Amino acid sequence: MDIADKKSNGVEKKILKFPEGFLWGSGTSAHQVEGGCNNDWTEWEKKNADRLANEAHDYWQEWQQKKFPEMFLPENYISGRACDHYNRYEEDFDIAKSLGQNAHRFSIEWSRIEPKEGKFDEKEIEHYKKVISVLRERGIEPFVTIWHWPLPLWLARQGGLKSKKLPAYFSRYAERLATSLGEVKYWITLNEPEIYSLNCFLRGVWPPQTKNLFTYLLVIKNLMKAHKEIYKTIKKINPDAQIGIAAHNVYFEAYKNRAVNVFLKKTIDWWWNYHFLNQIKEFQDFIGLNFYFHHRINNGFRKNENKIISDLGWELYPAGMYNVLAGLKKYQKPIYITENGLADASDEKRAWYIREALKGLHQAIEDGVNVCGYLHWSLIDFIEWDKGFWPRFGLVEVDYKTMARKIRPSAEVYKKICTTNQLEILNLKS
Ligand code: BGC
Repeated sequence: MDIADKKSNGVEKKILKFPEGFLWGSGTSAHQVEGGCNNDWTEWEKKNADRLANEAHDYWQEWQQKKFPEMFLPENYISGRACDHYNRYEEDFDIAKSLGQNAHRFSIEWSRIEPKEGKFDEKEIEHYKKVISVLRERGIEPFVTIWHWPLPLWLARQGGLKSKKLPAYFSRYAERLATSLGEVKYWITLNEPEIYSLNCFLRGVWPPQTKNLFTYLLVIKNLMKAHKEIYKTIKKINPDAQIGIAAHNVYFEAYKNRAVNVFLKKTIDWWWNYHFLNQIKEFQDFIGLNFYFHHRINNGFRKNENKIISDLGWELYPAGMYNVLAGLKKYQKPIYITENGLADASDEKRAWYIREALKGLHQAIEDGVNVCGYLHWSLIDFIEWDKGFWPRFGLVEVDYKTMARKIRPSAEVYKKICTTNQLEILNLKS
C-alpha cells in the first residue's frame, strides 16, 4: 500500500492505495431485511407499534417529523415483509456484484434454524447454504453473523440472554451451522453485545425492556461466555475458520482536554471500547468493528458538535474511524470494518461520509493497524429496529410498496473505490 501524488493545473491529486486483497463490500442483518420472521422482536413490534408511533411526536425534532411522516404510522414499526430479501437475495447479490463488491456480511436468523428448542429445520439450513453459494458464485466472500439480536421465542420465554443455559444453547446452534453450512471462512459470533445489553437491560428500550444494572452486567458476562463457547465449538469443527465479534466502538474525546474529562474519557473507553474485547482476547482471530459515533465527554455528559448530522440526528464524524482503529492496534489482530454508515434518505452525505471514513482508515493502515476490509452498512435499506423503516441506510434504496431496488448515486462512488482498490483525493491548491 502506498500514497501516490500527482499534480496538474493547480489541482493536487492524491491516491490512497489499499493493500492487495483488501475486502470491499456491505452488510445486512436477517431481521432487518429478510421479512417473514417470527422471533421475540416480531412479538415486541406488534405490542409496541402504536406506542412508538405516538411517541414519535415527542421523540423526533420538527424537521425529522416533517421529512419522515411515516414515523407516525404504526406499520412503520412492524418488520413484516421487510425488504423481502429472503426471497430476493439473488437479485440483491447481483446488485452487490455489479457494484464491484467482493465481500458481504449477513446474519442467520436463529428462529428459522431452530424454531423449537433442539429441533433444527433442514429446509432453512438449505436456504442459508444457498445464500452462501449464491454469494460465492458471484465472487463475494461471505461474513456470516451467527446472532444479530432477535432470539427464537422458545429461548426468549426461558429468559433469553439472562438464561444460564444461553452459552450452551448458542454452542449447539453454532455447531449445527458449522457442520451444515460448509466452507465459511469468516464467522461473526455476536453483533454488538455492548449495545444490545445496554438497550435491552439498562436503558430498557428494547425487548425485554428491563432497567437493572445487575441484569445488564449479568447479560454481558453471559454473552462473553457464549462467545467463547461458540469460538471453541467452531474451531473444533473447522480449525481454519476466522472468528470474531462485531464490536461497537466509539471515538470518545475529552472535551477541552480538561483533567476531569480526560479521566472520564479513559474510564468510559475502558468499559465501552475494550472491556468485552479484553475478556475474549484469547478467543478471537479478528476484530469486527462497527463504527458510527464520536462523543465528546464533558463532566460525564455528551457535548457533541453536531455540525453535520444524519437523518437520525446523529453527529457525523467519519474521520473518527482513524481514532477507533488506532485504539484497537494493541490487540495485534486483523480488523474488518463490519459496519459503518448513516441514515441519509436523500443521499446527500453518504459519498462524503464513506470517503472521509476511508481516509481515516487508510491513515490507520499507514500507522500499522492491520485493517483488511470495509463492509458498508448497508447494502439495502431496512427496518431500523425500534425506529422503523424511515431511516434509510442503504447504498440501494428499497421502495417498500413495490420492493423495487434503486441504486443510490453514492453507491457508484463507492463502486469506483471497490473496483480500483484506491481512493482518489483532489485538493485545490491555493
Ligand atoms: C446495528 C445495526 C443498525 C445500525 C444502525 C448497529 O448498531 O448493528 O443493526 O442498523 O447500528 O443503527
